[in-house]
Amino acid sequence: MQSEFRLRRCSVLFVEPRETLDLDLAGLLAGGDALASRCRWVALAPHLGAEVEIDDDELAALGRIGETPWRRHSDLASTTRPEVLARLLDLGLLISDAAPHEAMRRRDDLVRGTHWRALSAVAHMFSRWRGTDVADDARITRDRTLADLVDEYGLPPPHRVQCGEARIDLPDCEATALDRLLRSRTTCRNFDSRSELAPADFAAVLKRVFASHAVSEPLAGVRVIKRANPSGGGLHPLEAYLLLRGVQGVAAGLYHYDVVGHALEPLALLDAATATALAERFVAGQTYLSGAHALVVIAARFQRTFWKYRNHAKAYRVLLLEAGHVSQNIYLAATELGLGAFITAAINEGDIEQAFGLDPLEQGPIAVCGFGIRARRCDVPEFDPLGVVWDESGTQR
Ligand SMILES: Cc1cc2nc3c(=O)[nH]c(=O)nc-3n(C[C@H](O)[C@H](O)[C@H](O)COP(=O)(O)O)c2cc1C
Repeated sequence: MQSEFRLRRCSVLFVEPRETLDLDLAGLLAGGDALASRCRWVALAPHLGAEVEIDDDELAALGRIGETPWRRHSDLASTTRPEVLARLLDLGLLISDAAPHEAMRRRDDLVRGTHWRALSAVAHMFSRWRGTDVADDARITRDRTLADLVDEYGLPPPHRVQCGEARIDLPDCEATALDRLLRSRTTCRNFDSRSELAPADFAAVLKRVFASHAVSEPLAGVRVIKRANPSGGGLHPLEAYLLLRGVQGVAAGLYHYDVVGHALEPLALLDAATATALAERFVAGQTYLSGAHALVVIAARFQRTFWKYRNHAKAYRVLLLEAGHVSQNIYLAATELGLGAFITAAINEGDIEQAFGLDPLEQGPIAVCGFGIRARRCDVPEFDPLGVVWDESGTQR
């Protein structure tokens, strides 16, 4: 390493005082508390993508070293022990301008260059899953019934809010095709994986949801698209990455959708077993969703939106909202064709990123949607109180 290298703190860092509770049998036998509380400092730095534990000396040192000016190692060593500096450098919480630390410096530069809002970057990077199965999550596993939840949590907050006694009744609207469409939208958890989705239906959903209606160039070199959903700043940062396993005439595999050319870009072909396993992995073991013929990963290109909304408190929220718009359009486009659709946020982002080669600081999955042909029988519960999709015996109408 060059003799006089310089250091600064990584650009985004939050430190959480994390409590761990352990059973304290000795304390209990001595007549004290059954639980012993242990606190430690957990550093959350988005460029690392993984939590790291630090001690009091390291925390204090990080509080003394800013993230902007580069400072000579020898200057910092006058107030901070060299072994503390060395460990923070090893952890990647201090960034160095020396050649051996170039890889970590690039990760940190990516956070700076993407103009992430610090809190948003932490929320994004540390809410991602890899290899998670919802069956292992006691809060959402289907083994826990509604009655179990009420037993444990009491009743949920009421289903409606009413503000005072006064009322101004509003006129009803005449039912239109839009009403019929909206009322038949039902999250599908029963796909007929043995059948094949017609290519025309598959293409129609993608076109209606993701395809650009027009490309305009308001200023030389600045191109914007018009599409079905609204978009913060008109920047349309959401991409469709696809895992296809049941579209007639299209080999199972990973694809990207070209929104201007209305075309599939093949990324990797998969054999049937691998495609099935990967689909299950994407949706965290929810096999009733992974049976869909087409899975659509809605991924945000952060740089596109943050180009305008730099370090902006609302920018990340805008991306999440947009994904909701896109999801609703997938539901509606599929429903109109008599297909089933779903959305899930219980996804293994890390596995999806790996499969498609996405860097989560630049381009991250927000949700996975899917659509395809409904099964004849409703084996996994769906919410269809009007009986639009299923009859009383659970057979498709
Ligand atoms: C953001 C979001 C995430 C969801 N995640 C899941 C999920 O992980 N698994 C699932 O089966 N349904 C999921 N759903 C679907 C809801 O369970 C469903 O919308 C709700 O039960 C109401 O049913 P409906 O969509 O048929 O009206 C999700 C819905 C939303 C909006």
